[in-house]
Amino acid sequence: MPDADFKVGLLGHGTVGSAFAELLGERAAEIERFNGRKPVISGVLTRTQGDFEEILAGCDLLVELIGGIEPARGYVLAALRAGKHVVSANKQLLSQYGEELFETARERDVRLRFEAAVGGAVPVVRLLEESLSATPIERIHGIVNGTTNFILTEMAQGSSYAQALADAQSKGYAEADPSDDVSGRDAAAKMAILARLAFGTPVHLNDVPYEGIEHLHGEDLEYARELGLGLRLIGTAERRDGGLSVRVHPAFLYPGHPLASVSGAFNAVTVESETITEITISGPGAGGRQTASAVLGDVVSVMTGGARPPAPPLALRLVKDVESAFYLHMEVADRPGVLAAVTKVLGEQGVSIKSVVQRGIGENARLVMVTHPVLESSLRTAMDEVGAFEFVRSTPRSIRVIEEEFT
Ligand code: HSE
Repeated sequence: MPDADFKVGLLGHGTVGSAFAELLGERAAEIERFNGRKPVISGVLTRTQGDFEEILAGCDLLVELIGGIEPARGYVLAALRAGKHVVSANKQLLSQYGEELFETARERDVRLRFEAAVGGAVPVVRLLEESLSATPIERIHGIVNGTTNFILTEMAQGSSYAQALADAQSKGYAEADPSDDVSGRDAAAKMAILARLAFGTPVHLNDVPYEGIEHLHGEDLEYARELGLGLRLIGTAERRDGGLSVRVHPAFLYPGHPLASVSGAFNAVTVESETITEITISGPGAGGRQTASAVLGDVVSVMTGGARPPAPPLALRLVKDVESAFYLHMEVADRPGVLAAVTKVLGEQGVSIKSVVQRGIGENARLVMVTHPVLESSLRTAMDEVGAFEFVRSTPRSIRVIEEEFT
């Protein structure tokens, strides 16, 4: 007699939820062929239909694709406590209540899988949880927001910010509130999740300083092109000064960096460790069907007895002030002593200049500099002091530069 069907309760029927239901229907027979059991959707909860208790009672596994904190958190906790496996794509929930969920899953000895919460179809969660679980990781750099990478790619080809954002929304990449994408908050949630997996330390979304792409200028992208640099929104999680630094900000990359060539809505994550040098994986980071493929992969993983929740937490200190190289952009009056005044302030704060280019624009001049690595706090102090000079014509800007090239 064939095994009974594997019953999947589905919460949410938006872009990812509906794509998941469709993909499951298409792939069910093949999954049964190698797995012995056929996954079927046993109930769907939307805003207007379905009963949670009934769906919970009738399923082997619950897929949560509602997003946001409540009611998703209540539903996921209730399912875990009821001894049901859960698959979720909810980065907000995992980055703010991950420990509560992991602990409940450990207590009840059920699976909690969340591949689709980070990187869409890119299997970065599994890479860290399983393949690299025995590898001492030093650093992760990631492009983990498809919308912003799409916008930066389009802007580098001449599109306006507004047009590129509208395109990203129409393609289904952006969050319901796209300010989560462009502010860097979506990427910060994903980096908090990756940091927990890579370093064992709970990192709450609120612990991740983030800066988005809203303040970038077309000019910065032009300079990037001229200097042969790529401009990307980069999430970083790394060991620093005996602790852990997790952050998100736009950054210039040299062409040899594995993330420099990642374009469009693709996501990519580079994991660095002395043991493995560097591993980069990339692929579609957003979109309904793409994300649905990761969700369905998690369902199959549970059916075949896949990974347990992360181990109980370790405590690494979170380091907030870290060193970085910077690109600086200033517009100043073009007259004697101005460059000297700027470099004096930078020098006093320990900012060492690696390269400088000056271009005349009428009576003013544009100064573009790249610095050697310096503590962010020192750079900020220096830039505030420079910004206060009467000869400065517009607010000076700074963007971090990632120096590794791996060539
Ligand atoms: N809005 C997200 C992005 C979707 O653009 O990457 C995937 O989490």
